[in-house]
Amino acid sequence: MAAPMRFDGRVVLVTGAGGGLGREYALQFAERGAAVIVNDLGGGMSGGGESSRPADLVVKEIRSKGGKAVANYNSVEDGEKLVQTALDNFGKIDIVVNNAGILRDRSFARISDLDWDLIHRVHMRGSFLVTRAAWPHMKKQGYGRIIMTSSASGLYGNFGQANYSAAKLGLVGLSNTLAKEGVKYDIKCNAIAPMAGSRMTQTILPEGALQRLDPKHVAPVVLYLCHEDCPETGGVFETGAGWVSKLRWQRTKGTVVRQDDAIMTPEQVRDSWSEITDFSDATYPNSGGESTTQALAAVEEAFQNQSSVPAPPGGGGGGNSIERAIGYTARPTVFTYTTDDAILYNLAVGMSTSDPDHLKFLFEGSEDFRVIPSFSVIPAASCIPNILSGDIPGLSIDPTKVLHGEQYMEIYKPISPSGKLICKFTVADILDKGSGAVIVLNVDLESEEGERVAMNQFALFVVGAGRFGGHRNTDKAYAPVDPPSRPPDATVRDKTSIDQAALYRLTGDRNPLHIDPSFAIMGGFDKPILHGMCTYGFATRAVLKQFANNDVTLIKAIKARMSKTVLPGQTLQTDMWKEGSRIHFLTKVVENGNVCLSGAYVDLTRAPATVTTTTQPTQSVSLASDAVFAEFSRRIKASPALVKKINAVYLWNVTKDGKTCAQWTVDLKTGSGSVYRGEPKQGKAGCTLTLADSDLVAMVSGKLNPQQAFMQGKLKVSGNIMLSQKLSQLFQDQAKL
Ligand code: NAI
Repeated sequence: MAAPMRFDGRVVLVTGAGGGLGREYALQFAERGAAVIVNDLGGGMSGGGESSRPADLVVKEIRSKGGKAVANYNSVEDGEKLVQTALDNFGKIDIVVNNAGILRDRSFARISDLDWDLIHRVHMRGSFLVTRAAWPHMKKQGYGRIIMTSSASGLYGNFGQANYSAAKLGLVGLSNTLAKEGVKYDIKCNAIAPMAGSRMTQTILPEGALQRLDPKHVAPVVLYLCHEDCPETGGVFETGAGWVSKLRWQRTKGTVVRQDDAIMTPEQVRDSWSEITDFSDATYPNSGGESTTQALAAVEEAFQNQSSVPAPPGGGGGGNSIERAIGYTARPTVFTYTTDDAILYNLAVGMSTSDPDHLKFLFEGSEDFRVIPSFSVIPAASCIPNILSGDIPGLSIDPTKVLHGEQYMEIYKPISPSGKLICKFTVADILDKGSGAVIVLNVDLESEEGERVAMNQFALFVVGAGRFGGHRNTDKAYAPVDPPSRPPDATVRDKTSIDQAALYRLTGDRNPLHIDPSFAIMGGFDKPILHGMCTYGFATRAVLKQFANNDVTLIKAIKARMSKTVLPGQTLQTDMWKEGSRIHFLTKVVENGNVCLSGAYVDLTRAPATVTTTTQPTQSVSLASDAVFAEFSRRIKASPALVKKINAVYLWNVTKDGKTCAQWTVDLKTGSGSVYRGEPKQGKAGCTLTLADSDLVAMVSGKLNPQQAFMQGKLKVSGNIMLSQKLSQLFQDQAKL
């Protein structure tokens, strides 16, 4: 049997512990080793009078049994003083049981202001003040257990107890939120609705029931909920006479009574009443986010199934409002930015000091200081919030339903890394895609002198706003173009940081979807997602480096479709194909294979003077040393004992003309061993070896001595250098290689 539950070293504050339930809690906590603050004002049942006697008697009883307890006679409305007693006597506070209570029962019409206020002051405000005083101490120590005392009157209502019921259900709300806010600090909070014979209930319960409802049978539930081993938080428990049960919200599946975007009517509600109230497929949401997500998902599903023609995004204005919106050009706005904004953008799309060209992008003092051309979306997007909040006549859009579908940009002259740009947007077209509408928006960027700098075209998908009878396709939008079917000419991998979205949002797109977990859940995502335009910037940087020698003047146009989401921390792989002056690219998430940017390309103004196509390991270049790794693989398979003997993971960087052009992992540790291209899939390499393709072949075929190669600087070894010695076993019998 598991050990008895103890509370040694724990400090417990029980409010209203001079009698009834509170007294029993205090006695049982003390009996199991806790130091207890026995709080009681010693007043009458309806809130009048004061006496130190009830608390003193309980303290005396605890001490007489060898327990630790001190009394506190303040009202719970002096929350700080109660917690201070705990700190002064025992140096901390671990557990708070909010139990103190009074009754002022009246039928509703007879409840006076005083009846209402006193009840709320003791139950709601008292529990709030005591808990708020204890909270920072619990947070600091990373531990806390809290009980709120509710009541069946609050959960179900009870004649003559409107004031009390309101306060008691309020305590459940308080408990629910504290449970959520406390998760990070191991503070758990639960609510109980007890049933017990006490002075509060002795006049309403029959004698037999009173005996069965001894507070002794409630206290063990409170003790368990307050024990360090109890995982429960945010629960509501009804308990009495030895019976314990958990309560939760149950919701009918619900039904969508609205017809797509048409106005909803009370008659529709009436006609759907039996479905609205049908509990047969009930759900049990346990957070606001879950509740809202379920409701919105039901609406989406219903709209997809409804065959009627709904109203357009113009909201009731029919096709005319859409016609008014198409072609609308807004008054120009001015976007002012500094070199800090340019550096922040470059950093946010992955530019790093590890790049040899970094000064040009990260140091404003550099002679050739530049911003990556995809930055042009930042000034262009500065008008989006206005557009979504009603800047386009005839168009009303729910901003929470807008997804950024595609982005095209044309750069007419290199974007200055600081200055002012005049932004002018035009609604190029609005398409009816059935499940939604696509707004094609062109934003022109001009210098103050009126010179065209760039244009951006946004394709914004508005979920649920389709089927308004509009056209499906347009020649006004730049279409995505699929890459060639041959293997890519270059591949670059970039691991995004876990804080990538937190950084990118500082460039302008502050949508909480990218930072706030609760908002992300409401939007139907498990966690905050990376901005599609951040991935776009990463891919642009890859093309810029691989095919344009980081020369921003070579970039003429960029197009991509945002196909799937990326989570901060995931690795992006951009595959690139050169077709004349067009570089097709496709970006996927390495961890799950999802293509996140598709139909994408960069158009160059001209071919660069010299093109660096392999500054990052590419996965497609074929090398003489490939045969070496194939032979390694064969040997490992043939000799499992070798894996056990060597028991290490090696990473090989194979270079050509001084640049790494392939990486190989030789894993002689995991399972029966493996050899594959790329970095180790599990753990880190114990030893990394870097050498030229030709030297590797020479070395394994016995023409180059490894020690000499090392001394001559041809072979570089990092990590555990001793592990490289063990490799000789793989090199034996060189003739076969
Ligand atoms: P009780 O009247 O025996 O105990 C309440 C204690 O709180 C009293 O000792 C009283 O002096 C103290 N108190 C009142 N106002 C205070 C204040 N401002 N500051 C400090 N102490 C104060 O009542 P009982 O039955 O033990 O109730 C305990 C809790 O359980 C109450 O919150 C009550 O509403 C709740 N409850 C009890 C039920 C029952 O069946 N006994 C049913 C549902 C809820």
